[in-house]
Amino acid sequence: MITNSNWISSPVDIGEVCPIFSKDIKVSKQIKKAELTISATGVYEAIINDKRVGNFILAPGLTSYKTRLQYQTYDVTDMLEDENVLSICLGKGWYRGRISANDKEINRTDGAVIAELVITYTDGSTESVITDNSWSVSTSRILFSDIYDGETYDASAETKELGNAVINNSISKLTLIPQEGEIVKEQEKIKPVSMFITPKGERVIDFGQNIAGYVSIDLTANKGDKIVISHAEVLDSVGNFYNENYRSAKSRLEYICRGGRQVYKPHFTYFGFRYIRLDECPENVSLDNFTAIAIYSDMKRTGYIETGSKKVNKLFENTLWSQKDNFIDIPTDCPQRDERMGWLGDAQVFAKTAIYNYNTKKFFSKWLGDLRAEQRENGSVPDTVPNFWLLSRSSTAWGDAMTVIPWQLYLMYGDKKDLEVNFDAMKRWVDFMTNDSLDKYLWTCADDSDKMWRKHYGDWLALDAPSGSYRGITPDNFIASAFYAYSTDILIKAGKVIGKGMSEYEELHRNIVSTFKKTFTEYSTQTECVLALYFNLTDDKAKTAKQLNDMIVSNGNKLKTGFVGTPYLLYALSENGYAQTAYSLLLQEGYPSWLYEVNHGATTVWEHWDGIRDDGTFWSTDMNSYNHYAYGSVVDWLYSAAGGIKPVEQNSGFKEAVIAPVPDKRLGSINVSLDTAYGTIKSAWHYEGDKVCYEITTPVKATIIINGEEHLVVSGTYYF
Ligand code: BGC
Repeated sequence: MITNSNWISSPVDIGEVCPIFSKDIKVSKQIKKAELTISATGVYEAIINDKRVGNFILAPGLTSYKTRLQYQTYDVTDMLEDENVLSICLGKGWYRGRISANDKEINRTDGAVIAELVITYTDGSTESVITDNSWSVSTSRILFSDIYDGETYDASAETKELGNAVINNSISKLTLIPQEGEIVKEQEKIKPVSMFITPKGERVIDFGQNIAGYVSIDLTANKGDKIVISHAEVLDSVGNFYNENYRSAKSRLEYICRGGRQVYKPHFTYFGFRYIRLDECPENVSLDNFTAIAIYSDMKRTGYIETGSKKVNKLFENTLWSQKDNFIDIPTDCPQRDERMGWLGDAQVFAKTAIYNYNTKKFFSKWLGDLRAEQRENGSVPDTVPNFWLLSRSSTAWGDAMTVIPWQLYLMYGDKKDLEVNFDAMKRWVDFMTNDSLDKYLWTCADDSDKMWRKHYGDWLALDAPSGSYRGITPDNFIASAFYAYSTDILIKAGKVIGKGMSEYEELHRNIVSTFKKTFTEYSTQTECVLALYFNLTDDKAKTAKQLNDMIVSNGNKLKTGFVGTPYLLYALSENGYAQTAYSLLLQEGYPSWLYEVNHGATTVWEHWDGIRDDGTFWSTDMNSYNHYAYGSVVDWLYSAAGGIKPVEQNSGFKEAVIAPVPDKRLGSINVSLDTAYGTIKSAWHYEGDKVCYEITTPVKATIIINGEEHLVVSGTYYF
């Protein structure tokens, strides 16, 4: 808790150098318990007597700072001695870095920290140490740090005393909230696989895996030696280091050595990378001197998939990595370029997969708090949260994160609270669509397709886009009206779960569906068919499914869908009699396809189907991430269709399960498991000749559906 402490800042402007705030603390009695609470306008690292407090990287985390700023409380009982120095180093982080520079409503003027140490002695008395002007301030050796641009650290620099801290009353204490999310931690430590000289003559190290995090250096060097590192995700077609796709993010690390052995890793930044280029470095370095460290929110893994196809397994692994690399306190679009934003659309399409892969309850609940905080008066939500770019639009399929994610959380974890806390915001989002539309019972807007940034993102990055455009040809009004129906349907279901009267919205939903059917009578794109099928907006499912199937087969078993159509594409097929075609898409290896990326050496999921073309050239530099999870959304189809593990709406959180696997000989086998609050559900099948053998384990009552035949079972293992 923070009660009496003050925000404190440096007494002088020290430019880009990170300040350190310190306090000497004497302890004269025996301690029963000591708790240290800290927050900062930036990112902090606290040290007591040379030991780091806690293991939260980039604390206090990323929230909608205008209204929400987390603090963390650490048990430091065992860290205190008789005489102690508590110091807190402060970086710019997201709060004051380039990433949020556009947001003038954030009070970015001075870096500030606030802390409170409460010591309870064994004699029952307590003592508090608060941040005030008795703290001293000095410079650190971190000369520069920024989330996008990297860090400069001078190990040989002398630190300078700057005097006493000043109390900073310009920063509110009212925005402080206790830690809500999972903490971001150092996770995998990865040794490099090779060091080589590129055709351009540059020295490059390959870590073999695209990660988000940083490199730690451990080497012996002379005072003044410099190590300068650039980061990249891919090499170009001739094997040169390539990071033009980082756009303006410098992603540069500079370390100036003191003499002797030195161990260093960045403090207040992270990079998305697989390769590093040693722009400057002592000659004698070897692979042993470098380790890549992945950082991400500390979520517990819950989902596992292994199939008979090595390539599909790799696609699954790549998706796990894209989730880890982009679940850094908020769900980001990508971890490398000058973006790393909480784009709602990306999170909306990936949430289901994310929730199968990991326990993301805490992670998403915290971000939904930010989403609610950023919801506007009229119920619209910005396209990114936090809304650092002050986007004023609200796009379909992006804003629907407000309904889709709470509902997914409820289905998978069974906690009504996720609906209770979000219900009002969900309702306001649906009401916004109602009020914003030109036509009743649809969500339509005037044609603004001539504008560079129009209202909706459409079927973002779909392959039926006209040349030079990011948007597929599926009309915005079609997509927006379909999602209007979808979100309204979710709202009704959510309302019923928590005992709200929903008849008004049921009436609205009936009207949306009938108006949709009357308005959109024909479909001309894959995405139109997909949405009509998946959101139940067509009277003739058989006809629409056949049309979708024909479109795909005549296109050589290839998709054309973008962010909006892709997540439901395989469901739209497999749930309507075309499982074979769904598998043909999954197993497709030519461009465009999931396995095309795998064949081209992907270790994460790409933003574009053609991020790297067959001839080795790239999609343009302005929008080409190799670590965007949106298309990884195919993985939830592997869990819930191929493996067939599904929650039951009326008995959610896997108190009960449906297990309805969809086998295909070309995949050969699958083994899916999901850890739930009630135990582990397993669904496996493999082919013996033309015969499919199933092995299904359920810890709860389940309906197992094999070849259309339902088997109601109690917990146990079953073979078919
Ligand atoms: C992001 C996307 C995002 C999109 C909105 C991009 O810059 O990387 O993933 O959803 O903008 O259209």
